[in-house]
Amino acid sequence: MGAPPRFPCSPLRGVALVGAGPGDPALLTLRAAELLRAADVVAHDELVSDAVLAMVPASAELIVVGRRAGRGATGYRIHPEVLSRARKGQFVVRLKAGDPLVFGRGGEEAEELALAGIPFEIVPGISAALGAAAYASIPLTHREHASQVVLTTAHRKDGGLPPPAVAGGRTLVLYMAAHDLAANLAAIGAAGWPLETPAALVVAATTPDEVTVTGTLATLASSAASVGAPARKPALVWVGDVVRLQRTMDWRRALPLRGRRVVVARSRTGPSRVALELRTLGATVMELPHMERVDLAREAPVPPARWPRHPDLIVLPAATAASALYAGAPERWRSVPAIAIGARTLAAARSAGVIETWQARESTIEALVQRAVETLLPARGGRGLSALDASLEEVSP
Ligand SMILES: C[S@@+](CC[C@H](N)C(=O)[O-])C[C@H]1O[C@@H](n2cnc3c(N)ncnc32)[C@H](O)[C@@H]1O
Repeated sequence: MGAPPRFPCSPLRGVALVGAGPGDPALLTLRAAELLRAADVVAHDELVSDAVLAMVPASAELIVVGRRAGRGATGYRIHPEVLSRARKGQFVVRLKAGDPLVFGRGGEEAEELALAGIPFEIVPGISAALGAAAYASIPLTHREHASQVVLTTAHRKDGGLPPPAVAGGRTLVLYMAAHDLAANLAAIGAAGWPLETPAALVVAATTPDEVTVTGTLATLASSAASVGAPARKPALVWVGDVVRLQRTMDWRRALPLRGRRVVVARSRTGPSRVALELRTLGATVMELPHMERVDLAREAPVPPARWPRHPDLIVLPAATAASALYAGAPERWRSVPAIAIGARTLAAARSAGVIETWQARESTIEALVQRAVETLLPARGGRGLSALDASLEEVSP
């Protein structure tokens, strides 16, 4: 018996149209995460979050495509760079915000790939409305309030119709509605929805910048303006009685690390317990893959453009991870507080010029998480996790 037959080449080729979800990298599907690790090229929209892009390995080429970056209308359905890379035999992940087939033009890109004879697969993602429903705590349906959902776009040029007529038990969710919020709300009123209908604006859902403003069709635009809801970030508008449930359901209000950005420089593959615990406390955790395997003598460090936006805290599990991280990280990352596990890691961080370093008291997960909380919440004066318990009690409904 000879050796078993081998694949003549890797079956990874063509294009994967992959949903990146609404922003939190923890909401990527398992398939999306494994394809990102295997990609030769990742072609992404500007709307894909930096926290998700931080998961792309240094070996993959990263290119920005999509209409926000592509300055308005284009004469193509799929970016020519995507087609040419795939034709050269590279495996391209076309990473699209939310779900590729919900207001994402994924259908058009798939048609084009089929016509060009390029193999492709489609990986669903969590669409913004689903991510926002869970993180902003506004259901889409509810047995007492809504049994029908209409997902629509406020951009009529993009094929959207006028807002659907009012109907009891219906929730309306508008994508791309923030830009001209007052006019969009007025159009819903003109379609017959009473002006006192509850309404909400959810900005940058599932990211550390998430903001939710609630009101009614009549008041939402001025409330959003008065809290300074950022007009340049992606946002959804919710209209319907379900908005009333937000006050009771808001489970993330109690999370003490909500809005904090933490980088964990991974020194091993597999799930990270520290990342799990910090996420459970509400932080957005970016796991930078496998710093231990970076051989600085032979490999270029990750290019600065690839690093996520300024984090609030960096967790360094090992000295090699610390050296690899600071060899490539943008200079300003040296002013971000860092927690080191062990004296050697602490020394590596200090010799890399990190200004504020902390050492976990012991090399246990509890000590590390405790130290992270104390560093991120200094006002709690080192009371750490016991203060957390108190804060959770304070805000629990
Ligand atoms: C071109 S559409 C893409 C939708 C995407 N395919 C999806 O399934 O979510 C862009 C719009 O999605 C919405 N959106 C995307 N990410 C969002 C987020 N994190 N928070 C709120 N809205 C978001 C905004 O309405 C934005 O204008």
